[in-house]
Amino acid sequence: MTDPLRLVVLVSGSGSNLQALIDAATDPGAPFRVVAVGADRDGTLGLERAVGNGIPTFVCRVPDYTTRADWDEALARLISDAAPDLVVSAGFMKVLGPTVLARHRVINTHPALLPSFPGAHGVRDAMAHGVRVTGCTCHWVDAGVDTGAIIDQRAVRIEDDDTVETLHERIKVLERDMLVEVVRALAQHRTWQGPDGLSSGRE
Ligand code: GRF
Repeated sequence: MTDPLRLVVLVSGSGSNLQALIDAATDPGAPFRVVAVGADRDGTLGLERAVGNGIPTFVCRVPDYTTRADWDEALARLISDAAPDLVVSAGFMKVLGPTVLARHRVINTHPALLPSFPGAHGVRDAMAHGVRVTGCTCHWVDAGVDTGAIIDQRAVRIEDDDTVETLHERIKVLERDMLVEVVRALAQHRTWQGPDGLSSGRE
C-alpha cells in the first residue's frame, strides 16, 4: 500500500477545516495524514487543535522578519522540515510568497465561488453584491490572490435573514466536506490533478 500523503496545514484562526482533515485522517486506511500545522500567529484555536491531537506545530510571523521575502524563505524552510507531499492553506490569512510556491504544492480553500469575490472578505463581498448563491472553492495556489486552477466548489443559497456570520457558518459546513473530499481524491490518485481533471500546472 502507498504511504499516506503527508499534509502540512496552514491556519490563522479557529481551524475547523484543519479539524475535519485531522478527523478524516483517523479513519482506518485514510490515504493522508497531517504531519505538521503552521500558523502566522500565536494563540489560535487552530494551533490548540493541533497540539491536542499530538501534531507538531510551528509559528512564522511576518513582523518577526525584516522583509516579506525573509518571511517567505523562513516559512518555506519550516514547511520543508515536515517533508510534506501537499500543503493545505485552510483559513491561512496571508498571501504565500514565491519561495513557498516554488518548493511546495499548495491548495487553498476560499469561502466564495471563485473567480467571484476573491480576497480576505469573500463572504461579506458576496452579500454586499447581492448575489443569491455563493459557496466555497478549493483551488491550487499560484502567485495571484485566489486565482489558481479550481479543483472543486460547493454552492450555498443566501437567505434574506443571513448575516455574514450565519452565512459563513453554513458555507463552512460544506467547505469542510469539500476539502476532505479533495484531499482524499488527491491522495488516492497522486496524479496532481484535481477531481475534475484540472492540473496544478506544475507537473
Ligand atoms: C474558511 O471559511 C476559509 O475559507 C476562510 O476562513 C475560514 C477558516 O475557517 N479563509 P477555520 O479556521 O477552518 O474554522
